[in-house]
Amino acid sequence: RLTQLESDHPELISPDSPTQRVGAAPAEGFPEVAHAIPMLSLDNAFSRDDIAAFAERVAERLECQASEIAFSCEPKLDGAAVSLVYEQGVLVSGATRGDGRTGEGITSNLRTLRSVPLKLMGQQVPELLEVRGEVIMRHAGFEALNERAREEGSKVFANPRNAAAGSLRQLDPRITATRQLVFMAYSVGHIEGGTLPNSHSETLSYLSQLGFKTSNLTEVVEGWQAAEAFVAQILEQRDQIEVDIDGVVVKVNDFEQQSVLGFVARAPRWAIARKFPAQEEVTTLLGVDFRVGRTGTITPVARLQPVFVGGVTVSKATLHNADEIARLDARVGDQVIVRRAGDVIPQIVKVLDDRRASELPNVVFPDVCPDCSVMLTRDLDEAAIRCENSLACPA
Ligand code: IVH
Repeated sequence: RLTQLESDHPELISPDSPTQRVGAAPAEGFPEVAHAIPMLSLDNAFSRDDIAAFAERVAERLECQASEIAFSCEPKLDGAAVSLVYEQGVLVSGATRGDGRTGEGITSNLRTLRSVPLKLMGQQVPELLEVRGEVIMRHAGFEALNERAREEGSKVFANPRNAAAGSLRQLDPRITATRQLVFMAYSVGHIEGGTLPNSHSETLSYLSQLGFKTSNLTEVVEGWQAAEAFVAQILEQRDQIEVDIDGVVVKVNDFEQQSVLGFVARAPRWAIARKFPAQEEVTTLLGVDFRVGRTGTITPVARLQPVFVGGVTVSKATLHNADEIARLDARVGDQVIVRRAGDVIPQIVKVLDDRRASELPNVVFPDVCPDCSVMLTRDLDEAAIRCENSLACPA
């Protein structure tokens, strides 16, 4: 009825109407959007020592004890950074981070995300508010998207970050609308006609009152040892967390202290990204084994030079099916990027064919079942190759 009403009376369409989440016509391209305040990056820390050194630098500038500093610690979400601008509480613009100064205007795409409020909630809505955060794709949504892409023979994304970024850069917002994307707010870029609380953690609470999702894994701790303990705790839980996290961001919580610390070049002095071990590594494809599943489907399994990735040593990865081998153009002896995240089976996400020094043998899918030697079959409209004699084949 709302759609009908709005089509009869277009003057009644408001930018926060639920009908405006989808339906915008495909764009020709994305306009450039200059960020009023640059979107900065973060310096990295790779060890306990790096965090201790960061805290010492902060303490020296603040002329206090490192053990007294309150740090807000939160997961570093591995997605695509975006900025959302609200005027009088209504979403007017959304943009990618781009190079930090200028991004791409992707408002119609961002509107399709349920987690992007079209209108802010509550009593304390400022005249102008720029909210920053990360658009992420959960593992389940990512796997489902790639599964569908493999069935349709369309583009498969290497990881949830690329899937999130790629989904946001669709010219047709109706495609973005089908992707399972979530916006998680992590800061305010700019505010006018309103005031922020005195600390980062209170700002996160304020953002959640306004209707934004924020990470529920955030904690305020005192001193760098406690921050490092939080890092260890998140790293421990990493496999159970449903999104890709590539580290923990440790931020000085107090805004007054943040302003004393200021910025160097393109990063704040008051925050650091404590990075986790990578979930993607390069290794060598040693060969491919073919396994007969319970229903007779033949699954190619890559044998890999063992590599430490995502916290475990990986020596096997699924190659899904014959189409996937063809799509990757994987050859025995190739350098490949293997990814392991969460409970998902390790995958080969890319073949580094530019590192191929000489001609390498193709991976040949067998004609007959490796278990019972019966001729394999392939349904025309299916990616799976199977052994029709599956009952005889032990899984
Ligand atoms: S704060 C000046 N908090 O990390 C501080 N960033 O290298 C700027 N990121 O592009 C960011 N999770 O998109 C902050 N909880 C978090 C974050 C986070 C992910 C990304 C952010 C930025 C990059 C900085």
